Amino acid sequence: MTNKPPSGAPDTASPGKLSLSHLAAMKGRGERIAMVTAYDAPSARLADAAGVDVVLVGDSAAMTVLGLDSTVPVTVDEMLMLTRAVSRGATRSLVVADMPFGSFQISDESALENAVRFVKEGGADAVKLERAGPTLRRVGAILDAGIPVVGHIGLTPQSVKMLGGYKAQGRTAAKAHRLLDDARALERAGCFAIVLEAIPAAVAARITRELTIPTVGIGAGPSCDGQVLVWHDLLALSTGHLPRFVKQYADIGGAILTALEAYVADVRAGRFPEAQHTYPMPEEELQLFEAELLATSLGEKRHK
Ligand code: KIV
Repeated sequence: MTNKPPSGAPDTASPGKLSLSHLAAMKGRGERIAMVTAYDAPSARLADAAGVDVVLVGDSAAMTVLGLDSTVPVTVDEMLMLTRAVSRGATRSLVVADMPFGSFQISDESALENAVRFVKEGGADAVKLERAGPTLRRVGAILDAGIPVVGHIGLTPQSVKMLGGYKAQGRTAAKAHRLLDDARALERAGCFAIVLEAIPAAVAARITRELTIPTVGIGAGPSCDGQVLVWHDLLALSTGHLPRFVKQYADIGGAILTALEAYVADVRAGRFPEAQHTYPMPEEELQLFEAELLATSLGEKRHK
């Protein structure tokens, strides 16, 4: 395995865009890769401007923006709409579209058809697929069409029922071995990076050393080649339980609430809008308008 992009996969999608080999070179230099999820154009623009390397249109959108209980119900069409928006905003960062549950499990053909939609209609640079095992064949089928693929192992939320909940994975020697085997298999299959979610830091460190492709951790400790966080967790826009691996970098949720409460109070009190928010009209036009209305109403009265 080399750090080169898989055969057939574009190294650079468009001018100014980061390339797959850029990520491989970052691993080579020991430079950490910064990845974040985003689900709309303004967020993608901000991620781009902040120097984020990879924007993931995660199927976490199901929970963060669509208000669903899990990632399972989100559809290809819903994910495509979000991916299109993110692709418009991210001109430098690589855009990776998460293939939702049901979009790649059924057959190589439907996996490829959906992956093509994410690139062609969604403007994604690559797609991400959860799990190894049967997913390995799908990775091959998608790569054969020249679409780069990111793997994802550990806590894979699409199979949360089988995993018995949102729990850390790979905490026994046998399970850690299985994770390493899966990571190696995904690398052999041609993935250009692998997300490691909710696994012990020591296991992630070992996997990272064993692979030539970059690992991107979320709840996988500091030794991964990169880190990914969910937009809404990072900015305190999420509601409910936060996993222990989340660090909140700003209370944007709190700032939005304060702003909205001030807006509601201003509207109720008639303090908004003020003169500077209002369109003026030439005085003579206003007088003409009023005079015409007066004439019309007088005329109507005469006809009654
Ligand atoms: O859907 C998502 O946001 C993800 C990240 C947690 C890696 O898969």
